[in-house]
Amino acid sequence: MKFKIKNICCIGAGYVGGPSMAVIAKNCPDLEVNVVDINEERINKWNEKNLDKLPIYEPGLKEIIDQCRGVNLHFSSDVKRHIANADMIFISVNTPTKTKGLGAGQASDLKWVDSSAREISKYAKGQTIVVEKSTLPVKTAQTIKTILEESIIDSKHDSQNNLKFYVLSNPEFLAEGTAINDLENPDRVLIGGEDNQSIEALVDIYKNWIPEKKIITTNLWSSELSKLIANAFLAQRISSINSISALCESTGADISEVKLAIGSDKRIGDKFLNSGPGFGGSCFKKDISNLIYISNHYGLKEVSDYWQKVIEINEWQTKRITKLIVEKLFNTISFKKISVLGFSFKANTNDTRESPAIKICNDLLEESCKISIYDPKVHPKQIEDCLNLKQSKIFSKNICGEWTFSNSVIEASQNADAIVITTEWDEFRYIDWEKVHKDMRKPAWLFDTRSIVDVDLVNKAGINFWSIGRG
Ligand code: NAD
Ligand code: UGA
Repeated sequence: MKFKIKNICCIGAGYVGGPSMAVIAKNCPDLEVNVVDINEERINKWNEKNLDKLPIYEPGLKEIIDQCRGVNLHFSSDVKRHIANADMIFISVNTPTKTKGLGAGQASDLKWVDSSAREISKYAKGQTIVVEKSTLPVKTAQTIKTILEESIIDSKHDSQNNLKFYVLSNPEFLAEGTAINDLENPDRVLIGGEDNQSIEALVDIYKNWIPEKKIITTNLWSSELSKLIANAFLAQRISSINSISALCESTGADISEVKLAIGSDKRIGDKFLNSGPGFGGSCFKKDISNLIYISNHYGLKEVSDYWQKVIEINEWQTKRITKLIVEKLFNTISFKKISVLGFSFKANTNDTRESPAIKICNDLLEESCKISIYDPKVHPKQIEDCLNLKQSKIFSKNICGEWTFSNSVIEASQNADAIVITTEWDEFRYIDWEKVHKDMRKPAWLFDTRSIVDVDLVNKAGINFWSIGRG
């Protein structure tokens, strides 16, 4: 029997659920796509008339929302109705690291996946394909299947009594900031499953815009595990280049030259070799932590120790930046003003989860300085939540460790002793350093943790300069 998929529901309207369903809706006009969430405020933002007020910022997203919303793409908090109407249900809920209880600090918190499976078991009707889109520990599909199958025994809500579930794994590989392009032209789509019919039903959806040779099908466990491993390998690459950035600073080698030299080897490749203040984002640390937890669970201590180092190098890299700033500014930044440029964890997103800027700002505040933060897309309220500290409207003479939000690079840098570039927003590449330098307190410093500014222009402006991997 071939499945006829007409109606899709996605549980979770976040950074993955929103953009991935928007791209499906755009490329499959015959499909009805409903994205549901228990967070009504988030759903209201997805339904905002003003497309600049969508809950997430992604280049190219608002154009697709404009095209499809209200046509075949809908955002709703009526979870029950849309589960009941769906032929295929994506689970795209958050799976953060547990903060307490068994496995705290390492294991994924699966309570939202568990509750989604239970909602599906309660409301689904007929034959339903359930697709794991969230990143999950290997073997989670077994848990989902068990919850769903138990519900069949007690399926009073399905009057036709033909309830049947099929579970697939279809992890998402999009990166924030390039999500739409990643979804439109992915390197691959991965689908893990146990029966050909349900796998084929999902392959048929992706075939609408993705060449078939890019669609990889595997068993469930390979698919679940591959997602964790892809993130672990990417994060490991960043820790590798970051460890070498410190060696470059000590030896006089230049990280950008080393990157070019090693990246030209096709076996190594030149992507994902930018040293920086340490990787941030909601997933790398979480997914490696989960890999460590799983390895320990299976008694593979050496494997878990190996991946633990990737996290440790990352934390060390972020920490050493503040130490360096304090050293360069005569071993005290107390009551000095530092301008922090960028707060999101990478450019082209308003996401601040695990952003290295949070740790750097907290470390700077700990040293009693005044910080003015500018980010083109992050709202000051979001920064207040991340730092757990309200912003001061103006700096006071006797309070140490306070921050304000600035509306531009120029405003943030006025009277500053130092500027720290923490996110690689494009506009920071093209700053008029001579103009900025005039308004800074002297001796003025620039710390470029992303290695994006033109060294010659900064030197010409007369600013003292430190750049990651160059010293
Ligand atoms: P998110 O926190 O932005 O969104 C998750 C949403 O799920 C939230 O809005 C939450 O309210 C909703 N939710 C939770 N339980 C629910 C329930 N029972 N019913 C309805 N809604 C519910 O998370 P995200 O960044 O979109 O990540 C989702 C998953 O995708 C995670 O497993 C993550 O690891 C993975 N992932 C994320 C990215 C990324 O770039 N953010 C990329 C690839 C994979
Ligand atoms: C990452 C992966 O790239 C995606 O494939 C995956 O789907 C996603 O995690 C996920 O599972 O959530 P994302 O975290 O959005 O995507 O962004 P990345 O581009 O991977 O950047 C992660 C962090 O590494 C950022 O802080 C970024 O600044 C840093 N980074 C990245 C570097 O320091 N150097 C690099 O060369 C690349």
